[in-house]
Amino acid sequence: MSEEKILVTAALPYANGPIHLGHLSGAYLPADIYARYQRSKGRDIIFVCGSDEHGVPITISADKEKVKPQVIIDRYHEINKKAFEQFGMSFDIYSRTSIPIHHETAKEFFLEYYNRNLLNEKKTNQFYDEKVKMFLPDRYVEGTCPKCGYEEARSDECENCGALYDPSELKNPKSKISGETPVLKETSHWYFPLGNYQTRLEKYIAEMDGKYGWKENVLQYCRGWFKDGLRDRAYTRDLDWGVAVPLPDANGKVLYVWFEAVLGYISASKELSKQRGDENLWKEYWQGKNTKYVAFIGKDNVVFHTIIFPAMLMAWNDGEKEKYILPQNVPANEFLNFEGKKFSKSRNWGIDVIDFLAEFPADSLRYTLAANLPENRDTDFYWKEFQMRHNSELADILGNFVNRTFTFAHKHFDGKVPPCSNLEAIDTEMLQLLKSYPSKVSEFFEKYKLKDGVFEIINLARAGNKYFNDSEPWATVKSDKDKCAATINISLNIIYTLAELLSPVIPNASAKIFKMLNSSPVKWDDCAEASLPDGLQLNDAEILFAKIEDSVIEQQVAKLGISANIQKPELQPKIGIEDFAKLELRTATIVEAERVKKSDKLIKLKVDLGFEHRQVIAGIGKSFNPEDLINKKVVVVANLKPAKLMGLESQGMILAVEKEDGSLSLLTYDEKVVNGTKAK
Ligand code: 2FM
Ligand code: ZN
Repeated sequence: MSEEKILVTAALPYANGPIHLGHLSGAYLPADIYARYQRSKGRDIIFVCGSDEHGVPITISADKEKVKPQVIIDRYHEINKKAFEQFGMSFDIYSRTSIPIHHETAKEFFLEYYNRNLLNEKKTNQFYDEKVKMFLPDRYVEGTCPKCGYEEARSDECENCGALYDPSELKNPKSKISGETPVLKETSHWYFPLGNYQTRLEKYIAEMDGKYGWKENVLQYCRGWFKDGLRDRAYTRDLDWGVAVPLPDANGKVLYVWFEAVLGYISASKELSKQRGDENLWKEYWQGKNTKYVAFIGKDNVVFHTIIFPAMLMAWNDGEKEKYILPQNVPANEFLNFEGKKFSKSRNWGIDVIDFLAEFPADSLRYTLAANLPENRDTDFYWKEFQMRHNSELADILGNFVNRTFTFAHKHFDGKVPPCSNLEAIDTEMLQLLKSYPSKVSEFFEKYKLKDGVFEIINLARAGNKYFNDSEPWATVKSDKDKCAATINISLNIIYTLAELLSPVIPNASAKIFKMLNSSPVKWDDCAEASLPDGLQLNDAEILFAKIEDSVIEQQVAKLGISANIQKPELQPKIGIEDFAKLELRTATIVEAERVKKSDKLIKLKVDLGFEHRQVIAGIGKSFNPEDLINKKVVVVANLKPAKLMGLESQGMILAVEKEDGSLSLLTYDEKVVNGTKAK
């Protein structure tokens, strides 16, 4: 069998906005560390990515700016491509889905299914926004759930009670694009019979997990979808931006963005083939018998890469044409938050990659993100932690070890690698430990435990420092020069190993170290053989990481405060005092609280208004436990018409505000105020 090839893909980011640190942690940095590591192992690999340039959000951005979608995608494709370059992403190609080769590929897959009668054509009624003249995707319609009365239900399902219904049953539907009431209009679409693949998908995932160990978070998402049961998925949409449905009677219809975006990995590989003048190159990676395919993504993309894409490939492979390989692993990460809250463009919370790299080196960012990857659960980026890791781990532990070793070599050994003889236990033990590192780190990297791998590498730098201290070269340089020479020789060899092991994580610093060592990278497995030749002339030492001062970080944190200030909202029209007087805001104490069955959002409260007790059904269940609400003094809107929520009457409303993370805070008061007092 020919040598194993590796295909690595990283999710294609939408060309609809700049990428931020969260994107890097979710998919791109892990993919890059993995790809660079595999190259260092000497493996035959391609690493592809590109912009995802279709889908409704892009058309909405274009409408807002009154430009064509092409303007938006050209802008963000360039911005993101540049950001990735600055960050040191080592893609073999950064392609885009608007290019002809992608459109052809996406059409080819659709036609293959269509011609084999795999797709079902169905007529349905869908919401249509007459103001903006477009059919509305589910997430752009909001209304009241016909079952439980939840007011933020989607067009055909309610996230509060889990009900599925026909869009015609949704009450008070509103278009989230124009705010208008949409109408139901009949339309016809082709559906991919996802349900038919469930058994095979379950088997495929179990087999891959058994052989290669899938991440628990990914398996859990998959189990959830299998439990609910996979259903037909519309393959087409009524939209004029995207890959046109390649059928004569399909005017105004495009392929659903997800059904073509995943194929973007294939078309990007074809594009790479063209660039390299080898038309068949892509086939070796996508259709080779001995290729492993690893798809790096963030958690919001799991279903598309573990279910939809594999099902599409299975469907293709059932036909007569060349077969594709399926992902061997989909090591999806959870999310990185920013200073305790979700990244949010609309709330101006977070930092874009380009802005970050304008002020700090890429390696510092790569290292801090790598040391804190959300591999199993969400993690946070904190400016203080960034400074701490940079200063203590990169500057103090790594930088200092390199610096003191080089200083010694230049001062006492003419800037040459000194000889290594008469080894003592401390030296042989260090050399043995050093030898164990490449395979130790490999084990983590091969299993996608990148954070653990990075931790191990820094441990080697720690061990190097300790070895240096314990060997006391400042004393032996006077008392036993040979011993001192051995210490410096071994320290330089540790640095050499560190340069190789760190090359996937901090490639710029790694290259600098190699230059200082006047040496070139070797293969990963051979980097700990202590093979720097005696007498090799070293170059001058450079500072690898200058410390980041407190004031620099304080500035960043201060910017955050400014950006966190909420922009002036659009206020409702002015009202007179007589209107306000109509509002019965009354103080009350919560005396009973219990969860409404089958709802994670609703809590049934009994409130004491002094003059009477009332039942209030409050949508606060995601933010509070019922037992914590008892005895809370709250403000109730006491003259609201009763409403039914999940069959229960609600006789008022309690006031609460939404915090930036989406959780609620009740408007409460501490002073002794008689229940039932009117707020004025
Ligand atoms: O979540 C996203 O940014 C999507 N554009 C990812 C697509 S990945 C693949 F399908 F192309
Ligand atoms: Zn509901």
